[in-house]
Amino acid sequence: MYGMVNSAIMDLIVATHGEETWQQVKLKAGVEDEIFISNEAYPDEMTYKLVGAASEVLNQPAGEILIQFGRWWVLDTALNNYGHLMKYGGRTLGEFLNNLPNFHTRVVMMFPALQPPTFECSDMGPNELRLHYRSHRRGLSAFVVGLLEGLGEMFKVQVTITHEEQLDQGADHDIFHVAWSEV
Ligand code: HEM
Repeated sequence: MYGMVNSAIMDLIVATHGEETWQQVKLKAGVEDEIFISNEAYPDEMTYKLVGAASEVLNQPAGEILIQFGRWWVLDTALNNYGHLMKYGGRTLGEFLNNLPNFHTRVVMMFPALQPPTFECSDMGPNELRLHYRSHRRGLSAFVVGLLEGLGEMFKVQVTITHEEQLDQGADHDIFHVAWSEV
């Protein structure tokens, strides 16, 4: 994954637990880089190792870390660095999720080696839909939950996410029912 992903993990851990904890996470992960170059591709394995090491050092399940990371990605990384892309994604959560299938197409223009996941929407209602998530990577569905929570916060709505079908439990792909209401 592009370096910006590892960089965002670093920012999250430094912001929430401090520099010393980040150094411990890196040591445990066997990562020696002092910085990550945003637009350079790094092996996926490095990102997985950082999440695994953070889970051990912080004594929290990896799923929890991924949820926090998803929220951080939307509310900090994306809004601060790619605000224009987020803005054009839509004016409401419903609009944004409807546009999500095409979202990374714009990101690919900036980062041509991107290997993004694919999203599809079905069963759309005024305040709900089903989001279908597919990726060649495994184990990142908790990250999607965190992203959806972050988007809810961004649009100032209360979001309820139900992970209805799980690839890890034999389903064809992950399906999330997403419902929202004004706070
Ligand atoms: C401007 C905002 C965004 C940027 C710049 C961005 C960019 C990226 C990058 C660089 C990766 C790593 C993949 C790679 O390097 O090959 C990634 C992965 C991912 N992105 Fe985005 N993204 C953005 C917003 C979003 C949003 C809003 C969602 C969904 C709600 C999303 C869902 C994901 C997921 C689930 C992955 C994990 C990779 C996988 O499942 O295979 N991203 N994105």
